[in-house]
Amino acid sequence: MPPNITPFFDTTTCTISYVVYDESTGGCAIIDPVLDYEPRSGRIHTDFSDKLIDFIQRQHLSVEWILETHAHADHLSSAYYLKKKLGGRIAIGDRIPAVQTTFKKIFNLGDEFIPDGHHFNHLLADEETFHIGKLSARALFVPGHTPADMAYQIDDAIFVGDTLFMPDVGTARADFPGGNAQTLYRSIQKILAFPSQTRLFMCHDYPPDGRDPAWETTVSQQRKENIHVHDGIDEQTFIEMRNKRDATLEAPVLLLPSIQTNIRAGDLPPPENNGVSYFKIPIKTS
Ligand SMILES: [Fe+2]
Repeated sequence: MPPNITPFFDTTTCTISYVVYDESTGGCAIIDPVLDYEPRSGRIHTDFSDKLIDFIQRQHLSVEWILETHAHADHLSSAYYLKKKLGGRIAIGDRIPAVQTTFKKIFNLGDEFIPDGHHFNHLLADEETFHIGKLSARALFVPGHTPADMAYQIDDAIFVGDTLFMPDVGTARADFPGGNAQTLYRSIQKILAFPSQTRLFMCHDYPPDGRDPAWETTVSQQRKENIHVHDGIDEQTFIEMRNKRDATLEAPVLLLPSIQTNIRAGDLPPPENNGVSYFKIPIKTS
């Protein structure tokens, strides 16, 4: 039986979080859940995640995994909150220590932050298989957007993370620390080599004017229609397009708080001696 896939679209960050479950056992995975954050006030809330909790409880599902495709730079993860509420194991790709090491330096984090991936319950290797109820799942290493991105194949569906976007939007940026357009192109080709009817589920959608948000396509549709990587666009052309476009993009609004939370699997920086957690802003002078 194919997985039941329920998407939840976060209108603030244009992220799609998913609940994927096996109807026969009720075992489920949550993919890329979003924690609400108000940058002007520093206030966190859980309205979006509570919708996922409500759905999971109504369907009597049992959370086995909370899967992150990567350390997101555009939204805070609610993995830590959801784990506390529902259980499950938080997993991300096994290259995450490289990302943690990079950002430990950028944010000048102290000795308390050990960049070895221990914040997550499990680090998934390329091609590693695991189960969600009776569903078979497989982790696919798809770096380029960051050096540690994973996609997750569950039956005939692949959750592509930040590699591809919907065909009329294109592909993810490759200019974050450790990102690389050539690597991203090769990761995308790995996804597009799957059978043509493979269903692809996006992590984000930024719909052009007049189109409703969407998140599901197929390999075949991407190969025909993706504006950045349809069949016939070679690696060099893609790299030039991607680098040129990335040079025009601004930093995501929630970049700094997102990274500081997501390298801790959705936990906040440790509270200071007044009991309050703080985010840092490295100030650039040039
Ligand atoms: Fe991302």
